[in-house]
Amino acid sequence: MNGSDQSRQHAVFDRLRQAMLSGAMPPQTRLPPSRVLAEELGLSRQTVVLAYERLAAEGYVRARHGSGTFVAADLPDAAPPAAPGSILAAGIPAPELFPAAAWARCAARVLRRLPAGLTQYPDPQGLPELRQEIARHLAATRGLLADPACILVTAGTQQALRLAAELLLDPGDDAWVEDPGYIAGRGALAAAGARLVGVPSDAEGLDVAAGIRLAPAARLALVAPSHATPLGGALPIGRRLALLDWAGRAGAAILEDDCDSEFRWQGKPLPPLASLDRTGRVIYCGTFSKTLAPALRLGFAVVPPPLLGAFLRARTLADRGPPALTQAVLAAFMHQGSLAPHIRRMRTEYARRRAALLDALGRHAPSLTPLPAPGGLHLVVRLPQGSDEQAAVQICRARGLAVAPLGAYHLGEASWQGLVIGFAGLPAALAGETARRLQTALDRARRGPGGRVPRQSSRRG
Ligand SMILES: Cc1ncc(COP(=O)(O)O)c(C=O)c1O
Repeated sequence: MNGSDQSRQHAVFDRLRQAMLSGAMPPQTRLPPSRVLAEELGLSRQTVVLAYERLAAEGYVRARHGSGTFVAADLPDAAPPAAPGSILAAGIPAPELFPAAAWARCAARVLRRLPAGLTQYPDPQGLPELRQEIARHLAATRGLLADPACILVTAGTQQALRLAAELLLDPGDDAWVEDPGYIAGRGALAAAGARLVGVPSDAEGLDVAAGIRLAPAARLALVAPSHATPLGGALPIGRRLALLDWAGRAGAAILEDDCDSEFRWQGKPLPPLASLDRTGRVIYCGTFSKTLAPALRLGFAVVPPPLLGAFLRARTLADRGPPALTQAVLAAFMHQGSLAPHIRRMRTEYARRRAALLDALGRHAPSLTPLPAPGGLHLVVRLPQGSDEQAAVQICRARGLAVAPLGAYHLGEASWQGLVIGFAGLPAALAGETARRLQTALDRARRGPGGRVPRQSSRRG
């Protein structure tokens, strides 16, 4: 497939997306079979299949096994915004715990000194002093020995995934993604034209043997070995070795998303996959979105040396480098030793918040069954049988509870219904009241707006 095929694929994606957003294709509409649409538009079937896969990856449609592809009940752009002051957004750190005073002091110091480098075009790889601090941090916290010369500072994990997808995939290439898995991550691969292969993710994370059965020649695998999103599985050593072995034989790359390993509540933290990699297959991606704030847009990738030049060129073309001033403040913050104690404080506070929410759900929201949540900043709760996940989400959001539908994390159909709820932004003192509000919203969703139990649709989020 060449560049113009890719732009045709984008055109099909965009036209269908617009039709959905304008209401011309309302929720639950069945999309025409890809073969029919391809004939109608005079395009190759693969172009249409890839456009459908991107729509699925970004949450606009759901594929139902054996019955076709349907417009999702909750379009991503049309999802009702959670009411102002909403709580429970998954995976977002608490804004009130951002270390504002220490950050302000570092920023003032950096601005007072203002070395010339900070007002020129920055090093596209990232400020050397920040890369040095990141390497130290990785060695101390993750046991990962990374050469600062191989670290690329990125605008969050998202940019690392986007660059990797652009460089390592041709349109139409198979790429493994966890199913359920990280929505924005699979979006980054789909935007590069990848054919997403949903590999089941269970209590032990990615089912590597299933991936090998489904797409042995995939070019890339996106995986969160420490804590799969959203169910929390951690890849045991056998699966890690099998994954590395497969990547070596297939010549595939592994994108290791290690976004929240700082927050582990049960069991020992697991060393990153990258520390086991002897063949240069793994691109390790880290972020400051969970430990500090997602608005900083700062993360990093540890890139195997043979790929570094290509990453640097692509990065220079994309944005010439991350904003130097923010990098310099973070480097100063880390250099004075403020990050490690901040993370320790966050761990203590989030552990308290997590325990308070679990306790409150047990007392006040008996219809919700929390799943084990060994790490990260969110819980997944199972809804009772016969619930309408979409209705539950809509009613919760309207009441300031920014929960997410479990179905949205699935590429295909989910086999059960659930909600993903964040606890980092919920002070322990509010847990009881919030759990009560959740239960009231869920009762309402089961009764339906007019007091009736809503028709059981096959809608999945
Ligand atoms: C699974 C996963 N990976 C990575 C990230 C971080 O992305 P970014 O660094 O682009 O903010 C998140 C943020 O919520 C996430 O949930």
